[in-house]
Amino acid sequence: MEVVIQPGSAEMASLVADEIERLLAAKPDAVLGLATGSSPLAVYEELIRRHRAGRISFARARGFLLDEYVGLPAEHPEGYRNVIEREFAAHVDFADGAVQAPPGAVSSAELPDACAAYERAIAEAGGVDLQLLGIGSDGHIAFNEPGSSLASRTRIKTLTEQTRQDNARFFGGDIDSVPRHCVTQGLGTIMDARHLVLLATGSGKAEAIHQLVEGAVSAMWPATIMQHHPHATVLLDEAAGSRLQLGGYYRQVLADKPDWQGL
Ligand code: F6R
Repeated sequence: MEVVIQPGSAEMASLVADEIERLLAAKPDAVLGLATGSSPLAVYEELIRRHRAGRISFARARGFLLDEYVGLPAEHPEGYRNVIEREFAAHVDFADGAVQAPPGAVSSAELPDACAAYERAIAEAGGVDLQLLGIGSDGHIAFNEPGSSLASRTRIKTLTEQTRQDNARFFGGDIDSVPRHCVTQGLGTIMDARHLVLLATGSGKAEAIHQLVEGAVSAMWPATIMQHHPHATVLLDEAAGSRLQLGGYYRQVLADKPDWQGL
């Protein structure tokens, strides 16, 4: 796992956009795994900027979202399908239907088949080349809350009180408006991606980041499964990295890294 500590989200976003630009230059039909929430927003802004400057095209690329709330009306602005459209997809040149989201709006009877179909769609697209991730303060990635199977696939999950509190800021501060359930890619699904790129900022993520990078692999801190991934990059600001035991070593590794080596 590579740990990259940067001064702030602009520097983090620039490094991740470089990586995506390189990927799309080499493989224009690459499959991107897209996260929502606040952590990837600076990356999306930078990608939009580079697209407008003529540096990146998504015309042949595809995107798959990590998760979707259950029970929100289709037009709800905080539904992740709508969030990704507003924050990213509508501003670049994805083809119609190229960005897909897990099935948050199907009946419970249809859900198992719909989740299996989402897994199939990812596999038929060739699998995710680069998966963007944020992390919850309780250590979730996508919405795999503590206790999730480390081998899980796309399915319905119940959000923890902590996650609903953390996400109330997107719902006018009202925790009662935050859905209780979601459909999320599983940890096994995420681990199938070829490159995992996780971004975290702020001291509220510091303990989760310490566990992710330096803790024991455990369903109690679901993101720790990333320690088993052959190509995982964790980008942090100073505050998110403030509880790392080996922070000095990660900085030294980065300083000594050859220029030609990407993330
Ligand atoms: C969102 C997602 C979540 C968020 C996490 C952190 O698609 O999968 O795991 O990445 O809850 O959220 P932010 O970035 O808002 O702190």
